[in-house]
Amino acid sequence: MASFDLIVLGGGPAGYTGAIRAAQLGLNTAIIDKREVLGGTCLNIGCIPSKALLSSSEHVHFAHRQAARHGLKFENITVDLNQMMKRKQEVVRQLTQGLEFLMKKNKIARLVGVGQVVGPGKVVLRRNGHQEELEAKHVILATGSVPAKLPNITIDRQVVVTSDEALSFDKVPEDLLVIGAGAIGLELGSVWSRLGSNVTMVEFLPRIAATFDPDVTQTLQNALEADGLKFHLDTTVTAVTSQKNGARVEAIGKDEQKLEFTAEKILVAVGRKPFFDDAVAKDLGLKVTAGGRVATDSFYRTNVPGLYAIGDIIDGPMLAHKGEDEGVACVERIAGKAGHVNYDAIPNVVYTNPEVAGVGLTEELAKKNGIAVKAGKFPFLANGRALANDQSQGFAKILADPKTDKLLGAQIIGFGASELIPEAVTVLEFGGSAEDLGRTIHAHPTMSEAVKEAALAVHNLAFSIPPR
Ligand code: NAI
Repeated sequence: MASFDLIVLGGGPAGYTGAIRAAQLGLNTAIIDKREVLGGTCLNIGCIPSKALLSSSEHVHFAHRQAARHGLKFENITVDLNQMMKRKQEVVRQLTQGLEFLMKKNKIARLVGVGQVVGPGKVVLRRNGHQEELEAKHVILATGSVPAKLPNITIDRQVVVTSDEALSFDKVPEDLLVIGAGAIGLELGSVWSRLGSNVTMVEFLPRIAATFDPDVTQTLQNALEADGLKFHLDTTVTAVTSQKNGARVEAIGKDEQKLEFTAEKILVAVGRKPFFDDAVAKDLGLKVTAGGRVATDSFYRTNVPGLYAIGDIIDGPMLAHKGEDEGVACVERIAGKAGHVNYDAIPNVVYTNPEVAGVGLTEELAKKNGIAVKAGKFPFLANGRALANDQSQGFAKILADPKTDKLLGAQIIGFGASELIPEAVTVLEFGGSAEDLGRTIHAHPTMSEAVKEAALAVHNLAFSIPPR
């Protein structure tokens, strides 16, 4: 029987990061995934392919909507969807191949098949009717998540689809109805809208991307509406019925208004649910939380001896980078080191145009929890680089403690917000203040100066004057 110090079950960002850190710390490690390639949802059918399509479609958007302002004329812009998909797959291939290299370099055993924990330190690996028994001192579950379903809607994967299929449509749908205006719905809705689909978003809550403050989400909605997306908020889908060339969707909107839509494709993007079905034999009695996630202590230990859990299957936001950090912390704890995840400093990004990025407290959350905050805001319209780049939508907002000035949160809506938020994350992580951020020299001209100005604006000390 093959024996290891550590077996990681699941080869997504949480699992592969944990496996690499384990190997770096000298643990004899194996990683199991049912896919032939590592990378999990994120690399194969999530974060990465969606970013590839967002990038390609942004060029189309530029050619149609912005090029003329720059004095550029493109005639007969056509979309070769097949080539766009090929490039997307090539990006995925490069990254998954890179992971294989990392596994080899770190001497991690790569096992393909479905793994099941059958006892403390005992794993059965099944593949094509064969099974193999493995043992390890420690086992980490990192089996990720799958798209959530709606009770009254059948996902046929042809007309009614999840993000898995919406990343690979073979033609641009005439109309796309998206149920759920969260990260996935907004990103994929943007992609297909830019490529020519008539996109309608139906959202159950009164606003889109609801983890961000209302001023941020309203700015995002205005920008996306200007690009042609239609929104129905406060709206619940009640039925989806197949019909020729698509489906009919019934919904109840604001004030009990009955709504009906028809679309060629329906994307269900209403969240994800943890996936660990059969990963642990039933008789081991794995403890699960009320929310259906694997229950762990702060060292990621489950109630089964030697079994740990990380990533989307445990509490917290279902984000690749949260899982990665948990992978590192969990393994460091196993190795007797002081691994730790700061759950108050996990950035969150929606890769629309403009992008939305945030970290820490929002004004809404602060109010709800009775925490006093002082906000400083600065618009990209008053930022030289943003104007030069023709990317002046949005603003940066910094939240600080009114007494101590400690940075408590940041939200940025604007071009490249995903690359601007790490500065606020770093200040938050180091317990710095708005003044620290405001007194840090930022290269000029850069869009990052808007973040500095927002920090100065907490004390009404911003330098640039926003144009009226
Ligand atoms: P989400 O939780 O971000 O958004 C789902 C949206 O659907 C919510 O606004 C919710 O109110 C709405 N909704 C739920 N039931 C509904 C119904 N019956 N009718 C209409 N609307 C309904 O989930 P999403 O976008 O599916 O993403 C899943 C997970 O993957 C999230 O945890 C997300 O953070 C993560 N993710 C992160 C990305 C990123 O970091 N950029 C990109 C894609 C996904």
